[in-house]
Amino acid sequence: MRLLLIAPPGAGKGTQGSRIAAHFGIPHIAIGDLLRSHVARGTDLGHAVQRHLDCGSLVPDEIVLEMVREAFIAAKTAGLGYVLDGYPRTSAQAETLSRMAAELGMAPDVALHLRADDDEVVRRLLARAATEHRQDDTEPVIRRRLALYHQVTSPVLDWYALDGILLPVDGMRTPDEVTTTILDALEVVEAMPSIDLADP
Ligand code: AP5
Repeated sequence: MRLLLIAPPGAGKGTQGSRIAAHFGIPHIAIGDLLRSHVARGTDLGHAVQRHLDCGSLVPDEIVLEMVREAFIAAKTAGLGYVLDGYPRTSAQAETLSRMAAELGMAPDVALHLRADDDEVVRRLLARAATEHRQDDTEPVIRRRLALYHQVTSPVLDWYALDGILLPVDGMRTPDEVTTTILDALEVVEAMPSIDLADP
C-alpha cells in the first residue's frame, strides 16, 4: 500500500496515518513530526525551520523534498509501501512528487482526503493545545494554517481526482469510525489495484 494523506490541519492525518501504517506494516512518514523532531533536538535544520512551524507557514520545498526522498528510499530498500502524511501541500510539491515517485517506482495507489469542517478542526486543535502545548495550536496560527490549506493545498486534490486515485472520507465521525471506513475502502483498493476511485 502506497498512500498519500491530504487533509486540513486537525482533520486526523496523524491519528489515522499511524493506524493505517500499523495495519499494513508500512512506515508512517509524517513530515510535521519529522520537522518537530529536528526542532526538539536543536539540529541546524531545526533552527532553520522553527519560525515556519511556529507561525504556520510552509517550510522551504527543498528541505521537505529531501525528507520525502530519504524516506522513500528507505521504504523501497525495505520492500515496503508508505503512508505519506502532509505532503504534497502545493501543486509544485505534487509535480515534484510525481516525478520522484516515478523515478523510484514508488507512485501512490491512493490519495486519501480526510474531510472536516473548519469549526470542528479549530475546536480539536485548541483542545490539543491544552495538553500537548504545540506552538502552532493557537487560534490565530490555526486560522492561518487553515487558510493556507484552502488556498494552496486543496487544489492538489483535483490532480489526484484526475489520476483516479482520490479517496474522499468523512473525517467528522469518531476516530474509530473513520478508521473502519478507511480500512474497508483500502481493502477494495488492495483487491482491485487498478480500480478508478473516481468512478462511482
Ligand atoms: P503537521 O504536523 O502536518 O500539521 P497539520 O497539517 O497542521 O496537521 P495537525 O498535525 O495539526 O493535524 P492532523 O490532521 O495530523 O490531525 P491529528 O490526527 O493530529 O505540519 C506542521 C507544520 O509543518 C506545517 O504547518 C508546516 O509548517 C510544516 N510542513 C508540514 N508538511 C509540509 C510540507 N509538505 N511543505 C512545507 N511545510 C510543511 O488530530 C488533531 C487532534 O484532533 C488530536 O488531538 C486528535 O486526538 C483529535 N482527533 C483526531 N481525529 C479526531 C476525530 N475523528 N474526532 C475527534 N477528535 C479527533
